[in-house]
Amino acid sequence: MTITRSKQEWQALDGQHHLHPFTDFKEMAEKGSRIITRAEGAYLWDADGNKILDGMAGLWCMNIGYGRKEIADVAYKQMLELPYYNNFFQTAHPPAIELSKALAEVAPAGFEHVFFTGSGSEANDTVIRMVWRYWQLLDQPQRRVIISRKNGYHGSTLGGASLSGMKVVHEQMGKLVPDIVHINQPYWFGEGADMSPEEFGLARARELRAKIEEIGADQVAAFIAEPIQGAGGVIIPPESYWPEIQKICDEYGILLIADEVISGFGRTGKWFGSDYYGIKPDLIPVAKGITSGYVPLGGVLVGERVGKVLCADGGEFYHGFTYSGHPVACAVALENLRILKEEKLIERIDTDLGPYFKEKLGSLQAHPIVGEVRTLGMFGAIEMVADKTSRQRFPSERHAGLVCREHCFNNGLVMRGVGDTMIIAPPFILSHAQVDELVEKAWRCLDLTAASLKA
Ligand SMILES: Cc1ncc(COP(=O)(O)O)c(C=O)c1O
Repeated sequence: MTITRSKQEWQALDGQHHLHPFTDFKEMAEKGSRIITRAEGAYLWDADGNKILDGMAGLWCMNIGYGRKEIADVAYKQMLELPYYNNFFQTAHPPAIELSKALAEVAPAGFEHVFFTGSGSEANDTVIRMVWRYWQLLDQPQRRVIISRKNGYHGSTLGGASLSGMKVVHEQMGKLVPDIVHINQPYWFGEGADMSPEEFGLARARELRAKIEEIGADQVAAFIAEPIQGAGGVIIPPESYWPEIQKICDEYGILLIADEVISGFGRTGKWFGSDYYGIKPDLIPVAKGITSGYVPLGGVLVGERVGKVLCADGGEFYHGFTYSGHPVACAVALENLRILKEEKLIERIDTDLGPYFKEKLGSLQAHPIVGEVRTLGMFGAIEMVADKTSRQRFPSERHAGLVCREHCFNNGLVMRGVGDTMIIAPPFILSHAQVDELVEKAWRCLDLTAASLKA
């Protein structure tokens, strides 16, 4: 962008005109926002010239790293050739067609179709519409209930926020989209008490069966979950969880939806979290990593079971967005897939970067305020506690996560705080030296957090 101003001018204008997502407007206007002006590789620079290691890949999306000229070139070329046309009313364009084919090649077996959206939230709204449509076409329109999970995150549109299990969000909404209910999450560290992780995973999965029985199996349409909860605090379920969920979905014939907006496109070290866990979902909402965040794009990957019914003699599906399959976004996604494949970034997570990240981040377990470190692929979580053995938390009014997040920003690292859990999801292009840098900075920020909380 060619406009330049001082940081103070930007902060003032930002406070006057810009309402940020998930932000306390009053607090931000008083403090002044943090202005990020440029980025390269795994680093951001703020308006004061500080260099910051981005441990969150933007918002779980900047997987191939910032500043890729190849992506910019493709977008530029596509903007000159066909900057926009829609895919409504039996029209299509090459970028959307080519990307549909490319997605079918990397998606789990049987996923031959995709419905494009502009974001992960729109993808989940599409999921709701598609699930209801599927059961209507099968003459079971009473099957409407979608079971989701507390503390899951599926977006911020009415549908996405209703599927999500965020209490504070639901309180502001008052009422949810009807026919969406929630069961408990498989958060062993936070809620597992004295159970072993395996026992707890089974117990939480079996809540799905209990909920189906309570509602009546013939009323239940689907179960939706993230393979690994991201925004809820990088909650990696016990090994026993997903096989049991799959078994219950199969037994009752309900659709299984794996929300892979974060776990899709390599973060687990496999193309999809469903591949990692060996589960067989029917629908896979995606976004973020599909373009590595360079431009907005989302979609729903549609498996054989639903695809067959929708594409048979079902008539028109009255659903779509102006930007469903935007040509520039599709061209960028194709280039992103090329980079992921040619640079073997996903294999590298599986065999090299992921294990190194696990070992190094795991060393934080020795820190006096760390109760647990979890990693899987390029997902990481650090649980901060006042007492390591009892897992007792800091008093909630001390806001340990926010305190740590501020120390991180001020010391050249982005980590996000979810309650007292610090979460990490770095870009896939991190070098070993950058993993070391991340862990060293994290240790220092945990020290500073411990000192602040004591003060
Ligand atoms: C699992 C999951 N689903 C859906 C969404 C919503 O995506 P978007 O913010 O692109 O609407 C997110 C966003 O973080 C997510 O993590």
